[in-house]
Amino acid sequence: MISRAPKAKLKVAKTKAPATSRKVKVSKKKLIEVKGVKKYFETKRGIFARESKWVHAVDDVNFYIRKGEVFGLVGESGCGKTTVGKLILGLIRPTAGEIYFDGRSLAGFDEEELRKLRRRMGIIYQHPQSSLNPRMTVHTTLSRPIDIHKIAEGSKKEEIIFKVLEEVGLEPQHLDRYPHEFSGGQQQRIAIGRVLVLNPEFVVLDEPTSALDVSVQAHILNLLSELQGKFGFTYLLISHDLNIVDHMSDRIAVMYVGKIVELTDKKELRENALHPYTRSLLVVAPIADPTRKRKGVVLKGEVPSVISPPPGCRFHPRCSYAKPICKQSEPELHDVGDGHMVACHFVKDRKHKWPSPH
Ligand SMILES: Nc1ncnc2c1ncn2[C@@H]1O[C@H](COP(=O)(O)OP(=O)(O)O)[C@@H](O)[C@H]1O
Ligand code: SF4
Ligand SMILES: [Mg+2]
Repeated sequence: MISRAPKAKLKVAKTKAPATSRKVKVSKKKLIEVKGVKKYFETKRGIFARESKWVHAVDDVNFYIRKGEVFGLVGESGCGKTTVGKLILGLIRPTAGEIYFDGRSLAGFDEEELRKLRRRMGIIYQHPQSSLNPRMTVHTTLSRPIDIHKIAEGSKKEEIIFKVLEEVGLEPQHLDRYPHEFSGGQQQRIAIGRVLVLNPEFVVLDEPTSALDVSVQAHILNLLSELQGKFGFTYLLISHDLNIVDHMSDRIAVMYVGKIVELTDKKELRENALHPYTRSLLVVAPIADPTRKRKGVVLKGEVPSVISPPPGCRFHPRCSYAKPICKQSEPELHDVGDGHMVACHFVKDRKHKWPSPH
């Protein structure tokens, strides 16, 4: 039993001003490799529907994440980001392709091996309230993973819990409380603590701040950054907001309707975004310097259906530069120089210049 401190006013340790740099050395070693991965979900419309339709949630995606790296995945809602995260964690199996963790294909893992592997991975969800069990106190929430993975017991376990509580900016008197007694930001700290007790190597951050008050978003991002710097985690940071991924990531992949359309390092993406979709995202959310005028086209229209995506380049119905070839042939993601990958028929090298949109 832990000693219960008397209830006090909920208080959260203050987080420092926005972090500007991380200290983690990114290794050459690839911790995660995603090769030709597809995930199609079968769906039937209406109760009497006989015909199945397929949601092309992820459609031939390739990338890797180095050990100690923060890899950002950005795109509008519904483009397949969460599905990519779930596939890497082994929570769902791919329709095609392979995912490697530390050099081993997940396809070769049986359920018991996957269970052990999950100790090395974690996920922070968008909505902390629904990710936490409302009937579990903070203490139970933090001790449950330690018990499941048989990490420690007795005083050793309590030591881990108290240490983690401090790391996430909560206090011992919070241990007896239930999730509803906390604010959204504090609930997200509990969810982060639940991952931290396992001391994982790899964590998926799936829109970790989008459900939170603007006033606490920066605190949570900074906390995640600080923890990464301190413990050397590898992150997959998922967000619809380019500002959020830019804040923390080393490299960024831009996803559109199940496909990666651009992938490069953060600086290059800031200064030399080449895919028309990325350039449109930058107009919506200018990064680094919001006062700097961005050249690009404001996005028009809606994200197309993932059940029957547009033929050729999936972005063509919304692209100001589309030509007839864009409706007929699908552009491959290719290296346009220095590892900058772009999927567009007209971008052949890094020096490509788009004419001003009309
Ligand atoms: N289990 C599922 N069954 C059917 N469709 C799904 C399932 N999970 C996700 N989808 C669909 O796959 C597409 C991609 O979803 P998701 O990966 O959640 O996108 P994002 O995270 O980018 O918003 C969406 O159209 C979504 O409705
Ligand atoms: S391939 Fe065509 S439609 Fe697609 S982004 Fe390039 S110009 Fe636009
Ligand atoms: Mg999502």
